[in-house]
Amino acid sequence: MLAPIENYSDSALRTLCFNHGADLTFTEMTRVEGIIRNNKPTLAKILCCDSTPVEIQLLASNEEQLEKFVSSFKPFEGFRGFNLNMSCPSKELIKVGRGAGMVKRLTKAQNLVKIIQKYNYPVSIKMRLGANAFEQKHKVYLRLIEGSGADYYIVHPKHGSQNSDEEVQGNQIYEECLDSAKISGSKIIANGGITTPKKVIELKKIGVSGVMIARAALKNPSIFDYLKNEAGFNTPIKKIPSIKELKEEYTQLSNKFSSPHKYKENLSKLMKN
Ligand SMILES: Cc1cc2nc3c(=O)[nH]c(=O)nc-3n(C[C@H](O)[C@H](O)[C@H](O)COP(=O)(O)O)c2cc1C
Repeated sequence: MLAPIENYSDSALRTLCFNHGADLTFTEMTRVEGIIRNNKPTLAKILCCDSTPVEIQLLASNEEQLEKFVSSFKPFEGFRGFNLNMSCPSKELIKVGRGAGMVKRLTKAQNLVKIIQKYNYPVSIKMRLGANAFEQKHKVYLRLIEGSGADYYIVHPKHGSQNSDEEVQGNQIYEECLDSAKISGSKIIANGGITTPKKVIELKKIGVSGVMIARAALKNPSIFDYLKNEAGFNTPIKKIPSIKELKEEYTQLSNKFSSPHKYKENLSKLMKN
């Protein structure tokens, strides 16, 4: 899966990654309150001009606002469901119980999931282990997996006070999450620092259903086929294009889908061999 990535994951990048092995993609985090206010920059974040399989990632915490949006939502060709963000480490969001601050709010999470399911849409949750080390110690993340009712959980094994340079915690976190997922009949997707076929094979062995990749895909959007080739998931083996070829393909896609200038500039700085 290609992760939701603010200021990058528009139709062009999502299609590029899909063309090179990502099975599912996500729109960047979008605030429900902005959507229902018809705020144009907010609406642009969930505009999918392509038919690539995609989940729309929402930052939601108010039931009425979420229901207002979901009840009037019109699914489109690539739409595969909604994803609730319970992973954003922003201090402002955590302070008001949103992003990673939502992990411990089981009743609220259950309400949000139920609203989406009431309209028969699939729903997943992208989560950290809690807002801070204290919440992680009290295993709030396991209660969320056992009780919120979502279809599957993308686990980023860090708490909200850990920054992006810190290493993710070890596989024992996924193992605990897998035990909780068995209780709720759901699935676990691993996210964070996954860049090698060895890691993918190791995660599959412990029972994780898939992996989600962000930063490594910005450097090389064909990492999905590379990992699938090397870990034995692509038969026959797919050709890996050069960065020059990928840049040309991205230019065509970003022109076709009218990507914002900022997104094009951001990606061209990062894509490299
Ligand atoms: C520039 C940037 C923007 C991000 N935007 C989002 C976002 O909108 N929603 C989200 O859930 N996570 C977001 N993330 C977190 C990633 O989805 C992912 O969880 C994190 O980068 C760890 O995965 P990685 O090690 O493969 O990069 C962002 C990360 C980066 C680097």
